[in-house]
Amino acid sequence: MAVIVAVTPNPAIDVTYELPALTVGDVNRVGLVRHRAGGKGVNVARVVSQFGESPLVVAPVGGSAGDLFAAGLDSAGVAHRLVPIAGQTRRTTVVVTAGGETTGLYEPGPVMTAAEWRTLVTEVSSQADRARVVTIGGSLPRGVHAHGVAELVAAVQRSGAVVIADTSGEALVSAARAGADVLKPNQAELAEATGEADWRDGAHALLDAGAGAVLMSGGPDGLVWVSRAGTLRASGIPAQQGNTTGAGDAVVAAFAVGTVRGLPTELVLRRCLCAGAAAVNSPVAGQVDVADCDRFLPYARCEVLR
Ligand SMILES: Nc1ncnc2c1ncn2[C@@H]1O[C@H](COP(=O)(O)OP(=O)(O)OP(=O)(O)O)[C@@H](O)[C@H]1O
Ligand SMILES: [Mg+2]
Repeated sequence: MAVIVAVTPNPAIDVTYELPALTVGDVNRVGLVRHRAGGKGVNVARVVSQFGESPLVVAPVGGSAGDLFAAGLDSAGVAHRLVPIAGQTRRTTVVVTAGGETTGLYEPGPVMTAAEWRTLVTEVSSQADRARVVTIGGSLPRGVHAHGVAELVAAVQRSGAVVIADTSGEALVSAARAGADVLKPNQAELAEATGEADWRDGAHALLDAGAGAVLMSGGPDGLVWVSRAGTLRASGIPAQQGNTTGAGDAVVAAFAVGTVRGLPTELVLRRCLCAGAAAVNSPVAGQVDVADCDRFLPYARCEVLR
């Protein structure tokens, strides 16, 4: 039974092209091509399974890229419930040159119809009934209003599962208004969504709107947890050099796993910090070395901020 459901409303096939150099305005022959199922929820699910819990990905998919998405999850051993849509699942293409330069080409993704969106909400609702924690990650598809995230949050809450939303902009505020248990913005997303330059003001604006707690990630500076009971800071791991994409997804995964296991908040936050740092150390987004997390744990501190 999957106890952690990872919802990805706007999934993608991550395509990586490796070539010696990229010349704009000319033909570029690609050396190596890699495809994998992507999107925040997929990264969360992969890390959840590395931590030894069973994730389930729920996402809308369509077209041949949708088939590739399902095959990618199957080969990663990640269970899924995919909602078929008429549009074609998007691709996010990253071109990596021998010099280490990366260039991203991100498709906007399909437009989802109102009926398709309702089917997704229903699927989330029925999977949430069997879950202890549901994560909602990333952007919303075109055609879906920012309020759509509130429908997902409400669907989870009716089931009694804990909901963690990692999104940005209007959707982040909408998730707060819907009463999401936990929101996981990074510092820039928090400032942008709330219009507050100070993270404490931003976090309190989301609590006032209705969120249960805000888990703000601050890159190498670590994490803060803001709830009505007070503010905690997790820090102490030296800054790591590496691939920071997906570090936040590893934090969400560690939070979900800690919650499912009923660990105390301070320990959950320390483990989230370690997961983020371990994700930076891993070259691929959606991957952590659990031994790295264990190695970091003694350095991770959690203190009350006044
Ligand atoms: N360079 C780093 N060194 C050590 N730990 C890091 C570093 N970067 C990130 N982390 C850890 O990972 C957590 C999440 O990172 P960050 O704030 O960059 O997330 P994010 O911007 O949401 O990332 P993404 O959306 O790409 O997953 C941080 O709170 C921290 O614990
Ligand atoms: Mg993030």
